[in-house]
Amino acid sequence: MTEPAVAFTCNGRPVSVRAGHPHLLAALREELDVTSPKDGCSPSGQCGCCTVLVDGKAIVACQQPLSKIAGKAITTLEGFAPDERQRYADAFAACGGLQCGFCIPGIIVRAKAQVDKKGADLTRADMARHLGAHLCRCTGYVKILDAIEAVAAGKEMAVTAPGGIGSRGIKYEAAELALGDRGYVDDLRPPGLLHAALRLTDHARAEVLAIDVTEARSAPGVVAVFTAADVPGELRVGLIHKDWPVLIPEGGRTSYAGDVLAVVVAETRQLARAAAELVDVDYDVLRPLTDAVAAIDDPEIAVWGTDSNVLSVSEYARGDVEAALTESAHTVHEVFHTQRIEHAFLEPESTVAVPVDGGTRLHVYSGGQGVWDDRNDIARVLAIAPEAVTVELVSNGGAFGGKEDMSNQAQTALAAWLLGRPVKCTLSREESLLLHPKRHPIRMEYWAGCDAGGLLTALKVRAVGDSGSYASVGMKVLERMAGHASGPYHLPAIDVRSVAVRTNNPACGAFRGFGANQAQFAMEGVLDRLAAAVGVSGWEIRARNVITSGAEWGPGQIMDDGCLGAARCLDAVRPDYEAAIEAGKAVGVGLGLKNSGLGNGFKEIARAVVRFMDDGTVEVRHCWTEMGQGVHTVALQVAVEELDVDPDRVRVIVDTTRELGAGQTTGSRGTLMGAGSVKAACEAARADGCRPGVDYEGEYRVDWTHHLGEPGIEHPTIHSTFGYAAQLVVMDRASGRIERVLAAHDVGRAVNPQLCEGQIEGSVHMGLGYALTEDFPTDPETAFPTNMTLRSLGILRAKDVPPIDVILVESPQPNSPYGIKGVGEIGLVPTAGAVAAALHDLDGTWRSALPMRGAPDGADV
Ligand code: FES
Ligand code: FES
Repeated sequence: MTEPAVAFTCNGRPVSVRAGHPHLLAALREELDVTSPKDGCSPSGQCGCCTVLVDGKAIVACQQPLSKIAGKAITTLEGFAPDERQRYADAFAACGGLQCGFCIPGIIVRAKAQVDKKGADLTRADMARHLGAHLCRCTGYVKILDAIEAVAAGKEMAVTAPGGIGSRGIKYEAAELALGDRGYVDDLRPPGLLHAALRLTDHARAEVLAIDVTEARSAPGVVAVFTAADVPGELRVGLIHKDWPVLIPEGGRTSYAGDVLAVVVAETRQLARAAAELVDVDYDVLRPLTDAVAAIDDPEIAVWGTDSNVLSVSEYARGDVEAALTESAHTVHEVFHTQRIEHAFLEPESTVAVPVDGGTRLHVYSGGQGVWDDRNDIARVLAIAPEAVTVELVSNGGAFGGKEDMSNQAQTALAAWLLGRPVKCTLSREESLLLHPKRHPIRMEYWAGCDAGGLLTALKVRAVGDSGSYASVGMKVLERMAGHASGPYHLPAIDVRSVAVRTNNPACGAFRGFGANQAQFAMEGVLDRLAAAVGVSGWEIRARNVITSGAEWGPGQIMDDGCLGAARCLDAVRPDYEAAIEAGKAVGVGLGLKNSGLGNGFKEIARAVVRFMDDGTVEVRHCWTEMGQGVHTVALQVAVEELDVDPDRVRVIVDTTRELGAGQTTGSRGTLMGAGSVKAACEAARADGCRPGVDYEGEYRVDWTHHLGEPGIEHPTIHSTFGYAAQLVVMDRASGRIERVLAAHDVGRAVNPQLCEGQIEGSVHMGLGYALTEDFPTDPETAFPTNMTLRSLGILRAKDVPPIDVILVESPQPNSPYGIKGVGEIGLVPTAGAVAAALHDLDGTWRSALPMRGAPDGADV
């Protein structure tokens, strides 16, 4: 029987699609191959990425049943007039109005509807209100609104390619990203593609007695169903501990709500998802462990295959802390709590795996942050040599640390390998929320003292972090929390212990700031309480204690001149701080530091290749994930700086065929180590006369740091590089609303000031959400998350973001390429502390728990 069809006009062309699609977005993307509308949350209609025009009106396509579309005219970015496409692309590129780009096509469609209606009368506030239907997790909306304002005003935008180090200039591939033409993994369509869907567990902690796939296997369009019994190699993967089963077998035990029981492969995504629900599982349900502090002493083991609920302990001490606290003029004792939060990158995880060379090798397209780790673990799961797997990195639609661990790469690879056919698996938003690791909730007990003049005397910290089920990099996050426990201040005596605990809650791992955000919310709160006791301002107590060159920091590291940036950031916000107080505003200031790179004794080596081609172009090959942060642009600018070539001649390529492997793109490593290795490759090329066809390889190493608490080393150098930031939050006393944020960031050297500003604006947006409204709690009875939609996460919408002003401070890091320190990681480290101080100034109440307001829609920020 022929499936009924629905006819409409798409970009001026009459089309007819199968009536069975769940919504217009699926018909556009899956049948018509119109891919500029992106799928960030279908069918919930909460991200705006799929916005199209229906008879000239902007609507989200994932909420439109095809029955309502018959006979209508649909316009996507592909159907805009060429000069109009150019206008929007130029404005977004010139204003820096995009980072990962995933949200932008939908936003441009919404902007067109408004600009067509109101033209130059379209106000910024009006447009911000209309962007309430959209989320952007990268930009903080500032430069997006700049771009839309420019188009509405009919401004001609000069699009300038970036030059060498320090030049503003557009982001690499900016126009393609803005128009939705640069594909993400889910936009790939190799011939013969099958679709996979995952069957997730119904219980966070349960014995799996039986998995019955009979019904799923005979469902329409199903090609195969795989379970753990089909895994030819190792069942468990993981970045540090191999403790994460890619499939839970019969006789095994689930450990969190994201565990996978079966992979269903079918002719379409819709059929695969429908059949996945037919996989029948018999469980013996167990009590989940959901309280991290209680789990430390619980006789039951939370996570299958492990023998302790304590994942790690990080500790160090120097000086006599108890005596110093006793002798201090003022002391503070406070317990701080931070919440679990979700990355909410706009692009859900997607993987495409394609058998090649007659099925003897596998080519995997991944948007992950560590393709070499992915390759090695996929090979272990399939029991084949790592050389038989190539993981090609596809620039992703945001990550922020949440794409370091594999999500569905291994299961997709397994299906493709066993079937000998290309397979794609794209997670739904709900699956994405369930699967990947989150930011750690941490309980932090702080004791601190200072003398009568406000000089810090001692600090003691005891912290317990809920690391959830599988290890991920949880132990490293709590290690980083411990290392950064004292913030950017000198302490004569310090005693810190942090414990990462396994529970059945969502796994927690890497997330921008990596433990430093939590620690410095607490430390900044301590400083403000001490400032009040001493009778000095929040700015003053920070200025009296800020770390200086040659001083001993936290774990004993003697700081170099790189730390001068801390005081410079503080000085940069001082005039506005004083002016706001003078004007009677409620004011808070926060100061923070965050390492760049891995440090802690890890041997970090990155390589890059520069190659001059016969056609006059220059290839720069590196191994870092572009996820919106601009690592491609950094690589290009280093090449332009070093080789004095035309930027239009430089092609940046992520190369996963050469062994350039540098590990995860995390911790601001891409800019620091990427720039260092490309610079070295260019130097090698110059020394050899830049001959065409030669691979000039360059290397950058940081292999001289020490472990936290490394025995026998009095002054361990824990990290090679730190970024610093001071942020000022100004509130209106009458409304209690944040009027403005001033963010002064020491990036060492701003490779591209426009991109740096964008990173900081996006960080402040994320930091305000972290401080005030964002949360990802779980039900203590089931360990399942309770906020399972994008809207319920509490991410701030455009209209709720106050003006954000950025000051770039350039206090170079000795011995780093061009003095670079990185910008992504430090981003929101000081924000929550600054907001807490401003709220205290507003109403006299000290805050010790996040989020501090908790309106799920961010309405009262
Ligand atoms: S995919 Fe349609 S609004 Fe998110
Ligand atoms: S640029 Fe908006 S989500 Fe990345």
